[in-house]
Amino acid sequence: MLVHLSQLVAHAQAHHYTLGAFNVENLETTLGAVQAAVRKKSPIILQVSERSIEYAGLRAITTIVHTIATVQAGNIPIALHLDHGRSFRSVAECVQAGFSSIMMDASDMPFIENVILTKQAVDFAHRKGVYAQGELGVVKGLEEVSEEERKAYMTKPEEALEFVEKTGVDTLAVAVGNVHGIIKMQKGNPGLDLERLAAIHRAIPDIPLVLHGASGLPTAQIAAGVKAGIVIINIDTEMRIAFTKTLRQTLLEDPDEFDPRAILTPSIEALRTVVEERLDMFGSTGMADTFA
Ligand code: G3H
Ligand code: 13P
Ligand code: ZN
Repeated sequence: MLVHLSQLVAHAQAHHYTLGAFNVENLETTLGAVQAAVRKKSPIILQVSERSIEYAGLRAITTIVHTIATVQAGNIPIALHLDHGRSFRSVAECVQAGFSSIMMDASDMPFIENVILTKQAVDFAHRKGVYAQGELGVVKGLEEVSEEERKAYMTKPEEALEFVEKTGVDTLAVAVGNVHGIIKMQKGNPGLDLERLAAIHRAIPDIPLVLHGASGLPTAQIAAGVKAGIVIINIDTEMRIAFTKTLRQTLLEDPDEFDPRAILTPSIEALRTVVEERLDMFGSTGMADTFA
C-alpha cells in the first residue's frame, strides 16, 4: 500500500530500523524492488529521479508505482519520493502527481541560494501536506572531483541548524564522504566521515538524515552511519549493475530468445536480490508486520 513518507519515518524511528530508498525507472525495476519488499515484509521508499521522469513520463511512472504498490504489495507500506529535484517545476509537478515526499537539490549553489530555492520548494510541498528533503554540502561522483574537492564539498555541521531553520526541510541529505555512482565501486569506496556525521546529528537531532550514494558501502560503514544519525539510505547504482549485468548474460546465453518477458525476468530477480540484501542489512526485514 502507498503511505506517506512521514509514516515510514515515524515507524522506522519507533522500531529502530533504517529505511531503504531505492531508485526505480520503469515497470521492471519497480517490480524487482516491490517484490523484494514483499518477500522481506519490509517497508520501502521508491524514488524516481528527473531523468527517470523524462524517460518514462511522470504520469506513467507514478501510475506504475501506485498500481504495483497498491495491487501487488498488499499491506507492505511504500512511500513515493522525488529524488534530486533540481527545479521548482519538477518539485511542483511531483507534488501535484501525488508523491508524499520531494527533494529539492540546490546543493551546488552558494548557501543562501540553496536556502532560497529549497525554502520555496518546501513551502509549496508543505501547503499540499508533502514532505521535503534538502541537501547541504554536495554529494558528488568520484569522477567529478579530486580528493581535496570532495572534502571541501562536505556538509559543514555549523551550517546545518541555520539551513534547517531557514528552509523548514523535513529530512536532510548530507555529504559526509559519501559519493554517487559507479566509480567508487570500481576504485574503492572512500568511506564516511563519522565524526562529521555525528556533529551534524547533534546540531539537528530531530531531522532524519539521508545518506545518498550508498551503493557498495560495506555493512560496517552502514551500521556506523546509522549509529551516527542516518535514517534513510539511498541505493541506485548497485541495482542498475545487477539488472544490466544479468541482462547482458541472458542475451549472451540465449541469443535466439526474443520474448522481452523471458529476457527481463532474470534481471528483475537480480535487482530483487540486491534490494533484499540491503533490506536485511538495514534491519527493516519483517518490520511491515508491525506497521499499523
Ligand atoms: O543520485 C542520483 C540517482 O542515482 C539518480 O540517477 O539521474 O541517472 O536517474 P539518474
Ligand atoms: P548510488 O547510485 O551511488 O547508490 O546513489 C544513489 C542515490 O544517492 C540516489 O539519490
Ligand atoms: Zn543521491
